[in-house]
Amino acid sequence: MRAAISLIAIFTMVILGSAVDGQASPKKRLDEATQVCRILTFQNSGWASEGSRIFSESCKSCHARDNDQGATFLHSESKTKKAWNRVFLEKYPQCARNGQWGNLSDQELQKLNDYLFRNAANTYDPNDADDCG
Ligand code: HEC
Repeated sequence: MRAAISLIAIFTMVILGSAVDGQASPKKRLDEATQVCRILTFQNSGWASEGSRIFSESCKSCHARDNDQGATFLHSESKTKKAWNRVFLEKYPQCARNGQWGNLSDQELQKLNDYLFRNAANTYDPNDADDCG
């Protein structure tokens, strides 16, 4: 009986643990290129941040819904945290290689990466004060 109870307890912890894991907005991001640990806050990477503005102005100009640029619709939740990091580390998208990321500086690209990373797929948690306001 005791063993059964502790088994249930362990099982519950595992389930709760995995449900919570990865669901709140991340508080930091390791930038692989510079090996800098960037601290993420609502102010520097939330929806009203500079990164968000750069995304609207420099990326959504093409990646909006029903655009005529041949670009897929993109929003922060289109990719996971890891996938966004790869976009900026490898700069593999066709538009980056074509020089269509405009004249964004390394610093601006980092802010954009911070914003997309912090708001990536599976990061929203309505029970986290950081997400709810
Ligand atoms: C001049 C138009 C244009 C601009 C500006 C632009 N893109 Fe693109 N992008 C494209 C096109 C066209 C493709 C190739 C088709 C596709 O896969 O969407 C592409 C592909 C991509 C992809 C791969 C698509 C996928 O689903 O993985 C990513 C990621 C991407 N762009 C991100 C960005 C980001 C971030 C910015 C802003 C810094 C940006 N793009 C700005 C036109 C643009």
